[in-house]
Amino acid sequence: MSQNQVSGAIPAPKPADPESAFGTKTKAAHAPRPSTPDLDPPGADQLGLSPEEIAQFREQGYIIKRGLIPPEVFEPFHALWWQQPPIVNSGVNENDPRTWVAPGKHWPPNQRWSTADNWMGEGAWPGDEDARRGAEAGERVGRLPHKLTQDIANDVWRWHGIGHDPDFVNATTAHPNVLHMAEALMGGPVKRPHRNRGIYSIFPRDPEGDESNLGPHMDANMTELMVVTYMSRIGPRQGGFTIFPTSPQRLYPTSEQAYNWVATDASREAMDAIKEDVVPLEFVGEPGDVLFAHALMVHSAGIHEGDNIRMAVIQDMNRSRQRTHMRWTAAGKNGAPRVHCDMDGCFRFPTDNTDDDPADGDREVTNQWIMDSNEFVESRVPPHEDIFAEWNLGREPVTGNVIDEQPWWERYNLPLLPEGDVPRGGGGMPAVSLDSIAEYEGDGVWRVDRHVWEPTDTSG
Ligand SMILES: [Fe+2]
Repeated sequence: MSQNQVSGAIPAPKPADPESAFGTKTKAAHAPRPSTPDLDPPGADQLGLSPEEIAQFREQGYIIKRGLIPPEVFEPFHALWWQQPPIVNSGVNENDPRTWVAPGKHWPPNQRWSTADNWMGEGAWPGDEDARRGAEAGERVGRLPHKLTQDIANDVWRWHGIGHDPDFVNATTAHPNVLHMAEALMGGPVKRPHRNRGIYSIFPRDPEGDESNLGPHMDANMTELMVVTYMSRIGPRQGGFTIFPTSPQRLYPTSEQAYNWVATDASREAMDAIKEDVVPLEFVGEPGDVLFAHALMVHSAGIHEGDNIRMAVIQDMNRSRQRTHMRWTAAGKNGAPRVHCDMDGCFRFPTDNTDDDPADGDREVTNQWIMDSNEFVESRVPPHEDIFAEWNLGREPVTGNVIDEQPWWERYNLPLLPEGDVPRGGGGMPAVSLDSIAEYEGDGVWRVDRHVWEPTDTSG
């Protein structure tokens, strides 16, 4: 299908910031209940889906599989975890749990650990004060290989850089048991994952600090199946990933589109009602336990009052589908605001700013590189009557219907992977210039390049 046919049929909605989540101001009304194994439907410790699990996924939007990945598989990554900069530079010692408490006070405000000198093709990734040729000073840099935040109560390290390590992907999202479950749930062809968001670690809070609290939101990207794998033992109130069962069923019909999330007023009303009505569920489990949820599941980092480090792998899975272009965002420059690329593949810069020439292609553009799929789905059809109309959920046996699409960073020739003296677990995508990924069409419009994945024809 040509670009014009797509844009002619259903107009592109107003573009959203690829880094923004979907949320409203209302607070969650209920405390979470823990997902202890006695509450699992039959079959939780087996590969595949029992009738009870299918019913639970249809009604609640999630299932938990116990011991789906043998925990020995994680050993090399645990070893690597303790050697990473956020740990070794903050006095955290594996053998002294007292040092695990609130290490964020040792984290530098502008750390750029494990990045290459490849920002805009040349220099170091900028800090908040640095002058930049393609953006205002202080513009965000997007994700870092080690994203460190001091949240309301707990310090959080999102180790995105490990998420494109091929051995790590094989041990987690592309583990055969995970691929099996993805096909049993979504149906095939499953898009073989080549990256995930990495390991999200939540540290014990400072007992003198604020109480841990929920921050419910929905990730608002082009994902179909959300997967969370534990790498450490998580008991109740120990940072367990927290979900709002039934929320996908309530949000899905409010989106303008079935495959690309486009929020409406009804979505915001549904979000408020979900936080009001639903008793959240806190995922408790052992290393190797895996939560599968519909990707529109409202979720939150868990309440963490324990003395453990919560290590979870956050993952996005999809079916192999026809996609279009990358969801890019361009940094503001010369006093002009940030502009996002829309579903037609256009950036539309204002033409009335005398200080900022919209034809200037030397602007920083970034994408949400922590995702495995950050290209829009070509289809703009409205939501189906049944949220699971196209899902497998027990209809067909699993046959290993997995398609190994070429990863987006290879198709677009983007410098995501660590190279040179960047260590394993580092890398991540720097900004590139707008004129390296798009053509200027005049009147403030830049149209981005498409490098869509095409299956190789092997029929001869
Ligand atoms: Fe999230």
